[in-house]
Amino acid sequence: WMHFLENSQYQAQQEGLGNVTPEQMMAFMSEIQAMFDYGRHMLAKRRENPQNDLLSAIANVEIDGKPLSPEFLDGSWLLIVFAGNDTTRNSLSGTMRLLTEFADQKAKLMANEELFPNFVHESIRMVSPVTYMRRTATTETELGGQPIAEGDKVVMYYAAANRDPAKFPNPNQYDITRENAKEHLSFGHGPHVCLGQRVANMQLDSAYRNILRRFPDIKWTGEQTLAPSNFVHAISSLMVDLGT
Ligand code: HEM
Repeated sequence: WMHFLENSQYQAQQEGLGNVTPEQMMAFMSEIQAMFDYGRHMLAKRRENPQNDLLSAIANVEIDGKPLSPEFLDGSWLLIVFAGNDTTRNSLSGTMRLLTEFADQKAKLMANEELFPNFVHESIRMVSPVTYMRRTATTETELGGQPIAEGDKVVMYYAAANRDPAKFPNPNQYDITRENAKEHLSFGHGPHVCLGQRVANMQLDSAYRNILRRFPDIKWTGEQTLAPSNFVHAISSLMVDLGT
């Protein structure tokens, strides 16, 4: 579903929105419907039989004494499918690429397990799985010399901020000992900052501890497929040689 949604914007642009056929539209709608149906099914199951997990928390939360409306449950499901799934997958694959391209950093990491936490921050800075988000200015302001009027739409390019040389010297260098790596903006900023950032960091840490222990010579072969998206850095496939 995620892959489908990621590609649909691009396909619509290629075809020209007016040229999308009714069949393509139907196919799109039926995929979306299936995705939401599955979410409703899972959330209903968690309402009936709560587990110790995130979906149960969402399914059973009460705000002002009322459970979430179907609209909010659908929205939360879409968030989890997209926010927690695509991003972690892309940070895992993107990190494989970095460890291959910067073999000295891989050797450094393997020689010192204490570097793992900072390796995670630096990898997520470099990969920047989400390229941007947009906000609407609630008041007139100025940013970097650019006047912004109330109501203006402002696009925040996290990927660009993460390569800002004023903040990260020599920004294209993957440096797992970079002192301020943790200050990257890959998880956004402010009230909507990523809810899952600790899970995301933990996943990358745990995955690479295990991958490198089992396959110390693992390498990216150079082959990859990138989804044509300007919103997320989506790596649809990435080939590795396990080195075994
Ligand atoms: C490397 C992995 C991840 C990256 C780079 C990432 C990035 C982001 C970004 C950029 C935002 C928007 C922040 C903003 O608008 O200011 C966001 C929001 C969010 N993320 Fe993540 N995310 C990751 C993993 C996860 C995981 C694992 C989960 C869930 C388990 C998750 C759940 C969410 C949710 C629910 C929001 C919406 C928060 C809100 O609007 O209040 N994310 N994430």
